[in-house]
Amino acid sequence: MKTLTNTKWLTACHVDDAVENGGVCIKHEDQQIALFYFTRRNEWFATQNECPHKRQMILSRGMIGSLGEEPKVACPFHKKTFSLRTGECLSGDECAIKTFPVKVEDGLVYIGVE
Ligand code: FES
Repeated sequence: MKTLTNTKWLTACHVDDAVENGGVCIKHEDQQIALFYFTRRNEWFATQNECPHKRQMILSRGMIGSLGEEPKVACPFHKKTFSLRTGECLSGDECAIKTFPVKVEDGLVYIGVE
């Protein structure tokens, strides 16, 4: 597991503000972060919002699901899929997305940024 020595925890939203089995976009400084509440798995994930295929800011609007045990998001434009855990492109392409750690404490959702 990656050591999080320089991680700053950004307060993203209240748990009740999240979209069940979907994503929301969080703006942090000059970057957009897609935050996903995978209700069926009771897990949270965060990735860059930009799809690397055509550089569209769209992944927070993607459809989430599973490939076996791997949680994934599908870009709504051309359906390329990415692991929500590792960011790896599961469609066989070389592109990958950045992922961020997420934690939930006292009803608030935090995203770990460097
Ligand atoms: S822009 Fe996301 S798959 Fe093409």
